[in-house]
Formats: sequence, C-alpha cells, structure tokens
Amino acid sequence: MTQNILLLPGDGIGPEIMAQAVRVLNKLKTDGLDIQWDTALIGGCAVDETGNPFPEETLKKCRAADAVLLAAVGGPQYDSLPREQRPERGLLAIRKEMQVFSNLRPAVVYPELVEASTLKPEVIAGLDIIIVRELVGDIYFGEPRGIEQRVTENGEERVGFNTMIYNETEIRRIAHSAFKTAQKRNKKLCSVDKMNVLEATQLWRDVMIEVSAEYPDVELTHMLVDNAAMQLVRNPKQFDVMVTGNMFGDILSDAASMLTGSIGMLPSASLDANGKGLYEPIHGSAPDIAGKNLANPLAMILSVAMMLRHSLNQTEAADRVDNAVKAVLAKGYRTGDIMTEGGIKVGTVEMGGAVLAEM
Ligand code: IPM
Ligand code: MG
Repeated sequence: MTQNILLLPGDGIGPEIMAQAVRVLNKLKTDGLDIQWDTALIGGCAVDETGNPFPEETLKKCRAADAVLLAAVGGPQYDSLPREQRPERGLLAIRKEMQVFSNLRPAVVYPELVEASTLKPEVIAGLDIIIVRELVGDIYFGEPRGIEQRVTENGEERVGFNTMIYNETEIRRIAHSAFKTAQKRNKKLCSVDKMNVLEATQLWRDVMIEVSAEYPDVELTHMLVDNAAMQLVRNPKQFDVMVTGNMFGDILSDAASMLTGSIGMLPSASLDANGKGLYEPIHGSAPDIAGKNLANPLAMILSVAMMLRHSLNQTEAADRVDNAVKAVLAKGYRTGDIMTEGGIKVGTVEMGGAVLAEM
C-alpha cells in the first residue's frame, strides 16, 4: 500500500532544506519505495496566505497522512504579530493536534565532526545519547496563562503568568515511551526534574518510579535539571537515554546539540500513541542565512531517515539514507556550520547532491 507523506516546508531556510529532502524521497521512490507526498502551509507563510499559522486545510492533510515532515517555521517579520498568529503557535498547534507527545531528540557525534564541536574531543568523541522530551504538555500548554493588570504588593501593575502542569496519564505515557527507547539501547534511563522546588515535577518523579516497576531490565536514575545541564557539558557520555518534560527538554536538547558540533545535524521524531509521527530538524528557520544556499540540509535529511524508520517501517531505506550521510561526512563535504580543517566547503544544494550521489 502506498504510504502518504505530508511535507511542510515552512519559513526561512525551510523550503531550501526541504527541497533536498525531496530529492532523497524522489530517489527512494524511483528505486521502488511505494510512497507519495503532498505539501501544505504552516508558520509564517501560512499566516501570509490565510491569516492562520496552522490552517484547517493543513490539519486535514496531517490527519490523512501516514507521516508528516516539517522543515522550520518563524521569522523576525512575524515577531510583532498577535501571539495567536505567530509561526511558533502553528508549531505548537500541530504537535498538540497530532498528539505527538513523545519527542525523540538523538545527539550523535560523527567521528569526522569531533573537531567541529566547541568541546574537547575526549569529552564528546563517540557520544550517542537521546533525549526523550514530553511535547504536548507542561508550561507550554498549561492554563491559566497570560499577561494581566493586577493589584500586587506594589500597587496596580502588569503580571505575567504561566502554569506548569502534568497529570499522571501524561507522565505515564511518556515514561513508557522512554523506558521502551532505553530497552532498545543500553537500558539506562535518566529522568530529569526539579523536584526540590516544583510539585509538578515531584509527581513526575513519583510516576517515573512507579512505571519503572514494569521495566526491571532498565536502570532508572534521577537528576535535577540544573545539574543535568552541567553534566551534559561536563561529561555527556555518562548518559544514554534522558527523559524530561517539555520545557526542560527544550533547553537541554539545545545544549546537547552543541556537543555534536552543530544544531544543523540533529533530526527529531515526535510520535503519537500509535507510532504516527511528525519529523523535524531541531534547528529553527535561520532567517539570517535563508535563500543563500548556506543552510546545512543534513538534519532535514536525517529526519527523513527517522521517518522511514519509525513511522513507515522502512528500515532498509532508513539505513540507506543514514549511511549516505555518514559517507558524505567521511568524504569531507562540509557546510559552513560544520566546517573542519581540510573540509570541502559546499552549499545546501551541493550537500544534497552529495548525499544523493552516495545513495
Ligand atoms: C523546538 C523549538 C520550539 C519549542 C519553538 C520554536 C516553539 O525551540 O522545537 O525546540 O520551543 O519547542
Ligand atoms: Mg528548542
């Protein structure tokens, strides 16, 4: 049966890197993979055309697809729009609507890129960790939220507020996803919270411990988020799988990305309860380099590989894409963000072409 993919190029460098992903998909299709794709709007380009960063039409197409591939959203020209119209709202809405609560963010250091990291080679060489970030709850979505005029001890003034909230069901389902991820790897899971201060994360820790009873083969440890941030740059190889809430996961995954040399290398998968997923590079729309053929398309192409693996069950095709990326790095091709001594500097299109040639 033909599998349907929805492509969401979005804004900034999004369309450029998506074009490289499409070349990869075309190659796979030509070689016999039974896939087809459609395109839709999200983010700033959707606001420009429809006034809504996540139009109804895009939601319909998401529901009909077997997997969704998203490039990036956002740009400075949208920062002054009302909050509901900002591109980031489109991103949050698609995650919520698709209920992709389990966000897998691997951080892998390729041997050829050890020198591209700002950290010492011995700290990061061989690093292979994965952050499992809860993606549809926490302070990102908690109510009440807002900015209001209120009477405080200082008189009347503006007050800004958000709500950090998790129910047991939300914690339990991400726990299962993380334990299962750990079972497929080194069977070590570190749960990150701030239970010394925040009740919501005390519950997080309690539920993690409860669920761990069902996974006796996985060793569960706990770490406070401030310490986890420090340990990630001090000795990241102590980790294998980390699981944490939406906001802590946002922050820790950016820190983890820099261990690998460039945020331009990191793909992600966000999965719902049935394994249907939304796949996106973890970097943003990089408006400063958009349209200049400078962006690194590898995180986008690696997101295609994750999609093939996790939602489309095409392990062989996924390996083929992953291996092509490894080969390209081994041959020395580099975009600006991952430039190393003696590297062959290429642009977005040439990097896509190099991956294609390896396939
Ligand atoms: C990410 C991004 C988003 C987030 C932004 C763009 C809303 O930083 O995917 O990590 O905070 O989740
Ligand atoms: Mg982020």
